[in-house]
Amino acid sequence: FAPKDMSGKKVLISAGPTREYLDPVRFISNPSSGKMGFAVAEEALSRGAEVVIVSGPVSIAAPAGAKVVPVESALQMKDAMEQHFEWSDVVVMTAAVADYRAADLKTEKQAKVSEHISIELVPNPDILAALGARKGQRVLVGFAMETHAGVERAAGKAQRKNADFICLNYPTREGTAFGGDDNQVTFVFPDGSHEDLPRMSKREVARHLLDEARKRMQDSE
Ligand code: C5P
Repeated sequence: FAPKDMSGKKVLISAGPTREYLDPVRFISNPSSGKMGFAVAEEALSRGAEVVIVSGPVSIAAPAGAKVVPVESALQMKDAMEQHFEWSDVVVMTAAVADYRAADLKTEKQAKVSEHISIELVPNPDILAALGARKGQRVLVGFAMETHAGVERAAGKAQRKNADFICLNYPTREGTAFGGDDNQVTFVFPDGSHEDLPRMSKREVARHLLDEARKRMQDSE
């Protein structure tokens, strides 16, 4: 059984993919399932925390007791995260936020043409970096999926985004990350130090993650 070492703590989690619409019926997205974020939510609830999940479109059920704020686009996710940020003590950004959105959202379905077409994309804001800029006493945790130079890149992200640590995971290892029930992560700290965890269930990753976050909280002994 889990210790109630997070009772009264407020945990804000982003989960799932975002959808960036091109027209009313088409969008750019990614295969994020939301499982990692929901596992963090379950673990936090079992430890006595209050939990808000800002979730992109996913097909899994949220854990009982969590408040879910459904969003689609990165801009909507940013708004919802900013609205709940003041309230939070711990923020865990597991969402796979789309890096770009259409420069021009068409209000009507675009007809098919026979020539090549181009779609102009503009960068989405970095939600974690925006929250990191006004971090205060909160503990902020990000995720990063890298195919190469993982530790170095993740340490750079932790620094730039002002996160306490980044959970580095890999898109290419069987059974882990996107859609799987397991994950294999490395905790990477802004100074480049890191801790490798073996492959384990996403719920167990969540337990390690919250243990690490708990150590960094104001009232930790
Ligand atoms: O995409 P990237 O590897 O930079 O993601 C690292 C962390 O930043 C993740 O926790 C992700 O949820 C977050 N992020 C974000 N807003 C973005 C892109 C990434 O909050 N636009």
